[in-house]
Amino acid sequence: MHITQALLHWYDGSRRELAFRGTRDPYRVWLSEIMLQQTRAQTVEGYYRRFLAQFPDVYALARADEQAVLKAWEGLGYYSRARNLHRAAQVIANELGGQFPDTAEELQKLPGIGPYTAAAVASIAFDQPVPAIDGNLIRVLSRLYLVEEDAGIPSVKRRLYQLGLGLMPAARAGDMNQALMDLGATICLPGTPDCGVCPVSGYCLAYKEGEPERLPVLPRKKPPREIPVAVVLLRHGNKIFVTRRSQALLKGLYVFYLLEQEDMAGIRRHLATRGIRPVSLAEIGQARHIFTHRVWQMRMYLCDVADDTMPGEGQWVTKEEMDALPFPTAMKAAGGWADTLLG
Ligand code: ADE
Repeated sequence: MHITQALLHWYDGSRRELAFRGTRDPYRVWLSEIMLQQTRAQTVEGYYRRFLAQFPDVYALARADEQAVLKAWEGLGYYSRARNLHRAAQVIANELGGQFPDTAEELQKLPGIGPYTAAAVASIAFDQPVPAIDGNLIRVLSRLYLVEEDAGIPSVKRRLYQLGLGLMPAARAGDMNQALMDLGATICLPGTPDCGVCPVSGYCLAYKEGEPERLPVLPRKKPPREIPVAVVLLRHGNKIFVTRRSQALLKGLYVFYLLEQEDMAGIRRHLATRGIRPVSLAEIGQARHIFTHRVWQMRMYLCDVADDTMPGEGQWVTKEEMDALPFPTAMKAAGGWADTLLG
């Protein structure tokens, strides 16, 4: 039996039953693949169901407010995915007559669709024989074919793509990609591959060589930069001050008043320059949030103020108004405090 047949056979008997499987509707496949980009399949399932209930097709999504889309994405992270999803839906609905492009090449012209997502959608929805090279496939292919060069190097990436291409069947390309993904997610694991139960260990050069766990070789990553952030809960009566991010990081999401410094005297000085008169200022807790390239070390403060002067662009909101806005997970601890304080 050829390795492709062995993998498809294994997939037929052992695939993960996931909410987003069992459809070839390109809208659904696309949505799930965008959600799956940086997020575990189990986490995606609930978001996927709720998102489809709210935005059942590409027209519904195209018509929606960006804020509603971000709210549906709340907690999933990497929010540019949601903004690009929304923009791509508008292109498909308004410029392409609701028709998804059916090749990887054309799909990549849409916002937020890179080589991986294009190949995943083209193979699953349209049976195009293109490998969807994500972290799982890099690991599985590097081991099967003993690729010992750094997978971050463009020529090595091209080689992995060619090796993946060589595994694509004439039909069932989507199942083949998903078989490789499932193998990577359940058996061909990063630290501790479970080669004893692997359906293709007999074809695996790294297994034969004896140390599959040392592959793939990946580029060294810089550790994320640590940034001290003061999260100031400005409270006036039963309202709290929130602001909508315009910066690239967390763009379009709401946050409390943030300052890139954490010491109390600095916060007082800063607020004074904005005409804010604190009645009281106290540290109430700490939190940490890891982004891709930076870590926010947050100190949270409660600051009661004498009037509703705003320190900058933003708005005063009640608890109910706050709950309707999209907040990032980075604000979860502070949001918990805000809920209690306004409660
Ligand atoms: N990760 C990304 N896409 C996936 C899919 N379709 N099935 C399982 N895991 C995935």
